[in-house]
Amino acid sequence: MLRSLLLRASESTFLESQFRRRGFSRRAIRRFMPGEDLESALAAGKVLQDRGLGVVLTRLGEEVYDAGEADAVVAHYLDVLKQVAARKLDAEISVKPTQLGLAIGDDDPRQRDGYAVAERNLDRLALAAAAHGSTLWVDMEGSEYVDATLDLVRTVRSRHASIGVCLQSYLRRTPDDLATLADPPVRVRLVKGAYREPRSIAYPRKADVDRAFVDLARRIMDHRAWFDAAPPHFGTHDLAIIDDVVRVAAERGIPGEAVQVTMLYGIRSEAQHRLSDEGLTVRTLISYGEAWYPWYVRRLAERPANLWFVLRTMFE
Ligand code: FDA
Repeated sequence: MLRSLLLRASESTFLESQFRRRGFSRRAIRRFMPGEDLESALAAGKVLQDRGLGVVLTRLGEEVYDAGEADAVVAHYLDVLKQVAARKLDAEISVKPTQLGLAIGDDDPRQRDGYAVAERNLDRLALAAAAHGSTLWVDMEGSEYVDATLDLVRTVRSRHASIGVCLQSYLRRTPDDLATLADPPVRVRLVKGAYREPRSIAYPRKADVDRAFVDLARRIMDHRAWFDAAPPHFGTHDLAIIDDVVRVAAERGIPGEAVQVTMLYGIRSEAQHRLSDEGLTVRTLISYGEAWYPWYVRRLAERPANLWFVLRTMFE
């Protein structure tokens, strides 16, 4: 119930303007992001790297309706790749399709060229990621974008192997989508899913979402050539699920360091270091940027107990 209310709140521009105006909001978001600018994210990445973790960088922002603005996002990420190389950081980038223009035309049916804009932009970033020996990760947004996102990724993958995509275990359709990514092999970041979706298309019960996650992980690991050619990321803080994934991997002769786990900055930090010390390959996804409101409220929805933290920050 609270999760559903918070997910609704994440879509409200009125609540966004109210929240952003409050002084405590910036203090509260610090828990999940080192700062709004790229420099803070790179500095935090360096600290993590010195302790054995890789990172994934993502600039917050979604539903960009202007091709010029989407172009500026591409220019920003091209610069990120350059800075990452100059600092010898083990950092990949992760982008949202609607940040690269996919939603252009959604607000104006006469102008439906968002798909072409997003394709061109993903192509440029995948090419640049390949030149840096890196992977361009594509986030998965709300269910209305799943078909287009997967089409885009498969199209760009036919030209560059350096692209990977996020799949959400809460969606009932995901096993079928996963099967379309095996040949040619596409890297998959498996997560549970963070958006408000109707029960007709997404499992409402956490137990089913968790079971689906492990089942999807097993399907990738059963396809050993796919796993080896396009190593997946398991994007979860659920330590029981990570234990299950490691067990399934071991049963298939997959060594611990080939199991790649990615968690978000500020969540289960100790476990991130412990899993890395135990031999898994661990990355931390660091978000930065000014457009943090919807992303931040989705983090609250994942764990409504986080609201207490917000309330405490208000009175500090
Ligand atoms: P679950 O929610 O069951 O949490 C397990 C435990 O982790 C909790 O009991 C708690 O201890 C801790 N925890 C989890 N979330 C927390 C939080 N916000 N604050 C504090 N503690 C928390 N989603 C999506 O739809 N599209 C995407 O592209 C991505 N991308 C992505 C990348 C990466 C690297 C990660 C880790 C996650 C995403 N997500 C995502 C978000 C994902 O769908 C999901 O909402 C969150 O990861 C929370 O689910 P868990 O798997 O952690 O399990």
